[in-house]
Amino acid sequence: MSIVFETVAWAPRHEGRDLPGAVRILDQTRLPNETEFLLLNTPEEVWDAIRRLAVRGAPAIGIAAAYGLIVGLQDADRDKPVDFLHHLDHLVHYLGTARPTAVNLNWALERMRAAAHELEPGLTVDVLLQHLIQEAHHIREEDLAMSHSIGEHGAELLRAGMGVLTHCNAGGLATSGFGTALAPLYVARERQIHVRVFVDETRPLLQGSRLTAWELQQKGFEVTLLCDSAAGHLMREGKIDMVIVGADRVAANGDVANKIGTYMLALAARSHRIPFFVAMPSSTIDLNAPTGRAIEIEERPAEELTEWNGVVVAPKGVHVCNPAFDITPHQLVTGFITENGVLHAPFALGLKDMVPQAVEREGRELPHEGAFI
Ligand code: MRU
Repeated sequence: MSIVFETVAWAPRHEGRDLPGAVRILDQTRLPNETEFLLLNTPEEVWDAIRRLAVRGAPAIGIAAAYGLIVGLQDADRDKPVDFLHHLDHLVHYLGTARPTAVNLNWALERMRAAAHELEPGLTVDVLLQHLIQEAHHIREEDLAMSHSIGEHGAELLRAGMGVLTHCNAGGLATSGFGTALAPLYVARERQIHVRVFVDETRPLLQGSRLTAWELQQKGFEVTLLCDSAAGHLMREGKIDMVIVGADRVAANGDVANKIGTYMLALAARSHRIPFFVAMPSSTIDLNAPTGRAIEIEERPAEELTEWNGVVVAPKGVHVCNPAFDITPHQLVTGFITENGVLHAPFALGLKDMVPQAVEREGRELPHEGAFI
């Protein structure tokens, strides 16, 4: 299946052999001015790249972390499989601390851990490593397949001439290469359905202007960029027919953690009776979070607000509140565009059906509708 960008991939050191290798990422801190790829050779470099958003977006950081485990394990002592598994557990914990909100990070890491621990005991380190690199490739390939299905299902909602607004970047750059919120736009275009795309700037790190506007332009879209606070005005003017955003974590009741500003957008959309869709793969569902209240919201450094490209833009000593994400209550969500189709309210059962093993493993009860507000 085709990708829009090779956002994150495994780069073998020698041709014809998977191992050893490095994690190759498109450095998103340099866009839109420079297209530079980085090779990450240690778990610390992977951790740092995730933390400073060189690789970002929920599915992409999960894939980066899965490959990050391999770079931390590939030089392990070949004679000590037990130490190998302990080191794996340590790295799973370490990489999982890079960012707290997107569940895909820990989802991918736990999947890698399970892949190693579920094997029969007594296997060599080489076999374990081969098994793990295959698992990481599967995570990436499955994400791509899910993105394409999201695109197919989401495109069914679009009609020629519609105005579609998106926030942050939930495109190829945020995933294995095709995207979630942008995937329906890509598929619609293949079907000759042309929509008008509006992109929120997405303060403070400008994922909308730097990344989404760039990504869509690279793919030949005409894009209209607006500052975040203009969205309500455009809705009132009748220019927006639908909002589609991505998600970093979806709680069991359908509450959505996504980039800061998503909640205000959802409120404005509801006020104007504009459909508000969340596009996400099943790897973004966290049934262990009964509602959005259980989701940790990342607080980012104050300098992201007090400085602009190294220039101070706020008085010294000012208090800063810089949450990177917010929670949109499920009541404001029109539907979830998933790899299985479009899910409408009530969401709890449909979300549960998308991750059946997780429910069995945890044996948890699902929350009642309306638990968040
Ligand atoms: O801080 P970021 O840039 O990693 O935030 C990303 C988002 O909020 C995306 O909307 C979300 O991860 C979905 S990506 C398919």
